[in-house]
Parts: sequence; structure tokens; C-alpha cells
Amino acid sequence: MSEGTAKKEEKPSKFQAIRGTRDLLPPETTLWNRVEQTAHEVFGTFGFGEIRLPILEQTELFARSIGLDTEVVSKEMYTFPEKLDFLRENLRNISDAMESQERLNRYLGLVATFTDALKDALEAKRLPDSQANLDLSKQLADLVTETVARWNMGHAKPDSNWKELLGRAETLMWRVNTAERESLRPEGTAGVCRAYIEHGMQQLPQPVKLYYMGPMFRRERPQKGRYRQFYQIGAEVLEAIQPGQGSAKDIPKDAAIDAEVIEMVMMFFDRLELPGVQLNINSIGHSADNCRRGYVEKLRAALGKVKDKLGPDSQRRIATNALRVLDSKLESEQPIIATLPRIADHLCEDCATHYSAVKRELEMRGVFFRENWRLVRGLDYYMRTTFEITAQGLGSQNAVCGGGRYDGLVELLGGPPTKGIGFAIGEDRLILSLQESGKAPAQQGRDVYIAWMGERAHATAIRAAKDLRKAGFSVELPPVEQKFGKALGQADKLGAKYALILGDNEVSEGLWTLKTLSDGSQLKLSEPALIEHLRKSKAVSS
Ligand code: HAM
Repeated sequence: MSEGTAKKEEKPSKFQAIRGTRDLLPPETTLWNRVEQTAHEVFGTFGFGEIRLPILEQTELFARSIGLDTEVVSKEMYTFPEKLDFLRENLRNISDAMESQERLNRYLGLVATFTDALKDALEAKRLPDSQANLDLSKQLADLVTETVARWNMGHAKPDSNWKELLGRAETLMWRVNTAERESLRPEGTAGVCRAYIEHGMQQLPQPVKLYYMGPMFRRERPQKGRYRQFYQIGAEVLEAIQPGQGSAKDIPKDAAIDAEVIEMVMMFFDRLELPGVQLNINSIGHSADNCRRGYVEKLRAALGKVKDKLGPDSQRRIATNALRVLDSKLESEQPIIATLPRIADHLCEDCATHYSAVKRELEMRGVFFRENWRLVRGLDYYMRTTFEITAQGLGSQNAVCGGGRYDGLVELLGGPPTKGIGFAIGEDRLILSLQESGKAPAQQGRDVYIAWMGERAHATAIRAAKDLRKAGFSVELPPVEQKFGKALGQADKLGAKYALILGDNEVSEGLWTLKTLSDGSQLKLSEPALIEHLRKSKAVSS
């Protein structure tokens, strides 16, 4: 092999950001910073303090709070397994294959491989051989046999029975307890509740108002406005329930808190001039027979009657999470959903009173809203108020904020009885919407480009750069001497407003030349006069 070929082969392959993740670059990051700064300011005026949470938490924290049957926990979490990556990887391939409508026999192959691998892992005790896992392994093996039989009978076309069988297999596979310990956070509410308990925040003056911002991770199918690493800005209000405090008595207070939280996020969007903001609200009651549970029974019964007209996803959800059927975006299901019973007609007295009070409180605050009885949200911890905010320019992923009340979640995680309400803004979507509406700042240019020539001028240029930067101006100091023409060209490329020209003459006279690049005018100024001049003109232009 010649040396040339060896070199060619050694050339490392190019790396790319992982699917669903991306780099945020200047000048876009200027907008991100402006958005985050505005959040600090607006939330601060409502008495919220910032909490910085770890990105890794115990898997169980999310499973318990968000819910095992939710898409987020059952399919989308990045969880770090001990040794069982192959099981998870296999499952992800299956999820992707199901979504991309690949040939069904490929899914079947994957399900069979998974089932065999699971059986081996249980036998070798590489997985907890709990009764639940053993049962799942058996059910999966039966499903594979049943599916293979259908295949052999010639039912090889992708009909809905096939999809249903594989959908069932997929649900079973995700239930296998692989004893994994840690997950990348898919959201922030669970972590805030964990921190509230861990730091005994019920001892602080109540309610405790916290906000956070940072990356979240969900293994969703990437598209415009949907990423696997995305950023949220969220806020939560937590309030320990004092012994003897009755929930009915607290309704006006809770409703006012809900409304204030919503008012805060609307004020934030208003400050950013986010276009086409629309607030949707709903109440999903609380989990009791005379409230949500009773409603879900009625809903399930009504869905049972129209089951055949629904797609496989909704059919499956009738049993697992009937409320989520209301979320369906499938065109053919819309007329059917429109005829289903509505939760507003089945709320218990307290929940109905609370919902009316929230609406009244919003009106008092001049917050416009639209009621949407189908707004149920995809996470299990909600009760009573749920809301979502949409904005312009986002296509199908137009929810820029989602939130709601979650009384009881802290207690479910082992803390004292506590109420909660909060929201999270999808920062990526917020930025997209601002960019689409032309609110993004242009490339940030330098204030001053220092065009210096000669050894004496070099020392002066270094000092000038230091003094100007101290005074808050952004300065580009070329590391080596440049010809005048080249320096001005460079200043222009960087979008500099001024060129500070320092040559022998300027240094010996103590008078520096400041050239305004937009009109070519020049001024001779002493150093203090220069800083003063720049300050004044910056104040005029900002
Ligand atoms: P969520 O609706 O799952 O709620 O997410 C809130 C927002 O995060 C969404 O409205 C969306 O803007 C953004 N988002 C979610 N997934 C993605 C993604 N894959 N790519 C880009 N943006 C995304 C929660 O997370 C709750 N913790 C909100 C909450 C706080 N409820 C009470 N307190």
C-alpha cells in the first residue's frame, strides 16, 4: 500500500450531531439568551426563584409521576440499562418500523428476536425473573405463535388485525422490567417535586414558586418543532396542604393561583411579542367515581359502541387510556369524537366550581382563553385545570406551552400532601415562532474594529481594546498588523459600526481617528472623548 492510500484510509469519518439533536449557533443563540433573560425577569416579578435540576434522575421517579402507560415513559425515555441495551434497541427499531409502515414481517422478525432474547435473559437471570416478567415472556411467546399462525394462513397483508397484534406485542415488551436505574429527564415537573420533598420545602413559606430551564430528552420521531433533545422553560407552584385545610374552602385560592400562573406565561409571551398566541383551557376533574373516573367509564362505553370505526391506536387506547382518544388528530375519527360525552358535563361539584372560578379569575386578569373539552394532556399527573398555548408558524407541532394542576403528585412520590400547578414552554418552538415572525436579531456586529499599523500603534491598540471592552463595547483587535484596505474590508465583513484607526500619527498626536463605516465620515478624538462619543451614539441607537 502506498503512503498516499494509507493516509486516505486513515481519514476519520465525519461526525454529525445525533438524530433529533442539533447545535445552536450564533446569531441564533442571541435570541435564546434574550428569551431566557426575559423569563428570568418576568418570572422574578411574580416572585419565582430559579431551581437548577439534574438532568439524570431515577427512572422510577418518571414512571411513577408521568405514568407507566404514557408514551413518554413507555416509549420515549432515554434510560441507561445495565447490560440490556440490546432489548431496548430492539424495541426502538420496532417502534420506528411500526411508524414508518415497513413490511409487517419485519416487525414480526423483530418481535420474535426480542421474545427469544427475553427468554434467554430471564433464564440466565440477567433480568429480574419476577412473576411479572415471566408472565410477560409467556404472553409474548403466545402472541408470536398466534401472529406466525396468521402469517402461515396467508394473512400477510398489513390489515388492522396485524397491526393490533403487533401493537399488543409492543405494549407488552415495553412493560418488561429491565431493572434499569437512571433516565435522562423527559420533563421537569417530576424533578421539581422530588427536590421539594428532598429539601423539606414544605417548611418554607407556602406556596413555593420555582422555575427552571434546560434540556429535556424524549425519543420521539424528529420533525419541525420536535426534537429528541429539546429545551423547556417551566414553572411550578407547590403548596403543602395544612392539616384541617378543606379542599372546598381552598377552591377560590387555588383558582386564583392557577389563573396567576397562566397570566404569568401569557405576560412572558406578550413581552416577547410572540405572534398568534392562543390559550386553550379545560378541566379534567379529579380521580373519583363521581368525577373523572365515572366520566371515563361513560367515555369507554361510548367508545366501545364506535370501536370499529376507530383506527388501531384509538382502539388500543380504549382499554389503556381512554381519555387519550380525545387527543387523536386522525381525520377519519374527528366526526366520531365530536359525538362523545364531554367531561364538563360530568365534573363533581367542587371541580365544576373550581373550573368556573379559574375562568372568572382569568377574565379578571384580562387573559383571553378558549375552552377545549378535548384537552386532556399526555401525562398522568394532571387533575382539574389543564391548558395549552399555541403560537403561529409552527405547523403541526404548534403547542408552545402545556401545563396544569397536579395536586397529589408530591404525595404520590412519598412527600406530604401537597398541591401543584405549573407549565413548561417548549423553548425550541418559541424560538422558531419568533424567527418565523421576523423577531430574530440579525447577526450581532462588533462595535469597533481596530485598524492598527506599526509597532507603537500595536501597544496603543491593545490598551484601547482593553479600555473599550471595559466600557462594554465589543471590539475586534486583529492579532497582526494589516494593510489599511484589508482592515476596513474585514471590519465591514464583521458588521463593525466603527473602525478605530491607529497609526504612528495618531499615537504621537494622542488623537485617534474614528471612522463610521456606514457613511465613511471620520472624527479625531482623544481616548476619553472617544469613549464618551461611542457611549452617546450607542444610547441613541438602542
Ligand atoms: P409537555 O406538554 O409534555 O408538558 O411539554 C411542554 C412543552 O414542551 C410542549 O408544549 C412543547 O412545546 C415542548 N415539547 C415537548 N416535547 C417536545 C419535543 N420533543 N421537541 C420540542 N418541544 C417539545 C410537560 O412537560 C409538563 N412537565 C408541563 C408541566 C409543568 N405541567 C405542570 N407543570
